[in-house]
Amino acid sequence: MLTFIKILIASIFVGILAVFWNRSSFDPESLRGARVLVTGASSGIGEQMAYHYARFGAKIVITARRKKILEKVIEKCLSLGAQEALYVSADMSNETDPENVVDFALEKLGGLDYLVLNHVGKSSFAMWNGDVDHIRWLMKPNFFSYVQMAWRALPSLEQSKGSMIVVSSMAGKMSNPFAAPYTATKCALNGFFGSLNHELAMKKSNVSISICTLGLIDTESALNAVRGIITTPAYPATEAALNIIITGATRQQELYYPWFTYVMNLTKDWFPSLTNHIIRNALNYNP
Ligand SMILES: *[C@@H]1O[C@H](CO)[C@@H](O)[C@H](O)[C@H]1NC(C)=O
Ligand SMILES: *[C@@H]1O[C@H](CO)[C@@H](O)[C@H](O)[C@H]1NC(C)=O
Ligand SMILES: *[C@@H]1O[C@H](CO)[C@@H](O)[C@H](O)[C@H]1NC(C)=O
Repeated sequence: MLTFIKILIASIFVGILAVFWNRSSFDPESLRGARVLVTGASSGIGEQMAYHYARFGAKIVITARRKKILEKVIEKCLSLGAQEALYVSADMSNETDPENVVDFALEKLGGLDYLVLNHVGKSSFAMWNGDVDHIRWLMKPNFFSYVQMAWRALPSLEQSKGSMIVVSSMAGKMSNPFAAPYTATKCALNGFFGSLNHELAMKKSNVSISICTLGLIDTESALNAVRGIITTPAYPATEAALNIIITGATRQQELYYPWFTYVMNLTKDWFPSLTNHIIRNALNYNP
């Protein structure tokens, strides 16, 4: 137990140092006029990312399904200082919409510097009930659309020495109960973009990929899903959003937010049974 605590404390220090190091090398001016596409931007972390990019003076295209809400987000982006702010409504579970969204952004902004993939399809937080069709469907918005958009945007990102930002989750690193379909899609994302990252590096590509590992964030959809089941604190979406943007802008390969997701990633391999105990007991469940 004592070694565990020592390692825990050391890991925390490393995590904190990493955050400050990244922050200090981040130049907000680098985002002025940057051409950014943010998906899943009608609410939650995506909406907050749109506002941060707007404050930094970026040119942004946002997308989600709901037109009316996107219009409101755009208005706020413009008032916060976005050089340009446009929306395109799209359904990421549709086969052609993902590519059309990238084409829209490329055309309107004349290219892309940041492709920020953040959207997720709806899935419930509960024990798996055998619904295979749901998993088959969820892979479309949560995984296939990411792959399609990344490939479509790659030539422009090569030209601009740009970045892809993939918003993933603790679930992409380790399995959690009550979220088997979601976990499957996030592991697929981490696997795919991890491989792509190697291949781009081997090709001496100009493009960086940042994979973001997030814990529980206080978005409406996340809180509604876990209500009554998880009682651990949720972390603020606006801070998560800023950390994601800095990670992309400084071309870091990984973000762990909040810090304990980094520690969990280590302890799951070092102390598997302890980690499993913590995960299973963090949920309110009485069979
Ligand atoms: C996808 O979107 C296109 C254009 O909006 C539409 O024509 C097509 O029917 C949609 N496909 C599905 C499977 O819903
Ligand atoms: C990287 O960018 C330069 C232009 O600055 C371009 O000539 C080169 O082809 C790009 N690399 C790749 C792999 O596309
Ligand atoms: C997180 O865990 C994965 C899988 O065990 C490992 O490959 C990766 O290096 C870990 N990340 C860090 C920052 O330790």
